[in-house]
Amino acid sequence: MQIPFFELNRQYLDIQEEIDQAVAEVFKSGWYILGEELKAFETEFSAHCRGGYAIGVGSGTDALQLALLACGVKPGDEVITVPNTAVPTVVAIVAAGARPVLVDIDPKTYTMDPERLESYLKAQQLPLKAKAVIPVHLYGHPADMNPIIEIARKFGLRVIEDACQAVGAEYCGARVGILGDAGCFSFYPTKNLGGYGDGGMVVVNEASLANHLRMLRNYGEESKYNNAVFGYNSRLDELQAAVLRVKLRYLDVWNQRRRSIAGLYRDLLADADLSLPCEAPYARHIYHLYVVRSRERDHLQRKLKEHGIITSIHYPMPVHYQKAYQILGYSRGDFPVAERFSSEILSLPLYPELTDEQIAYICHCISV
Ligand SMILES: Cc1ncc(COP(=O)(O)O)c(C=O)c1O
Repeated sequence: MQIPFFELNRQYLDIQEEIDQAVAEVFKSGWYILGEELKAFETEFSAHCRGGYAIGVGSGTDALQLALLACGVKPGDEVITVPNTAVPTVVAIVAAGARPVLVDIDPKTYTMDPERLESYLKAQQLPLKAKAVIPVHLYGHPADMNPIIEIARKFGLRVIEDACQAVGAEYCGARVGILGDAGCFSFYPTKNLGGYGDGGMVVVNEASLANHLRMLRNYGEESKYNNAVFGYNSRLDELQAAVLRVKLRYLDVWNQRRRSIAGLYRDLLADADLSLPCEAPYARHIYHLYVVRSRERDHLQRKLKEHGIITSIHYPMPVHYQKAYQILGYSRGDFPVAERFSSEILSLPLYPELTDEQIAYICHCISV
């Protein structure tokens, strides 16, 4: 049996008729940027988040950068995040002119440890350079937002959720993305809600932030040819919006199927010599990725490949090991949890189209 890590065309074939029709409508409309499809998708997306204003942008990275700028982050400010994130989280911080500061993670959820955040902030001299914090809902599991928001408020920081991997996940019964000041989403094709190209979304609760973001994404225009602020060109186009509107209607079913597959993995791997993902009592995980840990990670990955099963690693190097981020001045040993995990984690295939037989085969190959 061959099991690829992603098989995006399978999802397309399942909903081909609806996608093809939505795309054809856009072609025929003669309107391709900032039109009715985007407007409708933004309304539907904020309804899915159960609140907030949604602003469609060019990518998840742009969503984070523009959210930081709209929240007033300026060159020389610090923005705090975690070392085990996808590099675009820090790419966005640097693009906003700020300096990324890293704090270690909670070993159960792999997300920001609120105690590390607080001890970093307590150790700083006033006035604080840190202006914002970006907890990352990694793999689709929400970070522990209540203590993070409480600490951020105490120190006057804005909270920007990196929800790029977590569309539809829940924290204490609320959907992620509207818990802090801004929530950022990615529609990269492999995401739970993936487009056929790049795309992203920022969701905010404050109307003034929403207006600022609408200007930032469109050259800084307040109205046509009236530029109120410096801006960018970062708009979710009509084709992607039309595709994503179709897919949004399936998202909850797809996320539920991901959760069932995770349940199957949990049952079938109960006796395997692996650490399995946890779901904190406050969380509804949407399993963008199913990440296990093994001390024999590389051996396990090779063995599965020999059995036709392709796995991946998210991520093989924490941010501060990367050449580009040596400049931050961190050393090996600064973030023991994230560092250890980077050599043990392995992402098993998980997408809604996988069959129970395929999952059973993967689990069997892990155990033999
Ligand atoms: C955690 C995280 N943050 C940010 C991004 C950036 O999103 P995009 O690829 O749409 O720019 C991604 C996705 O790649 C991600 O997984």
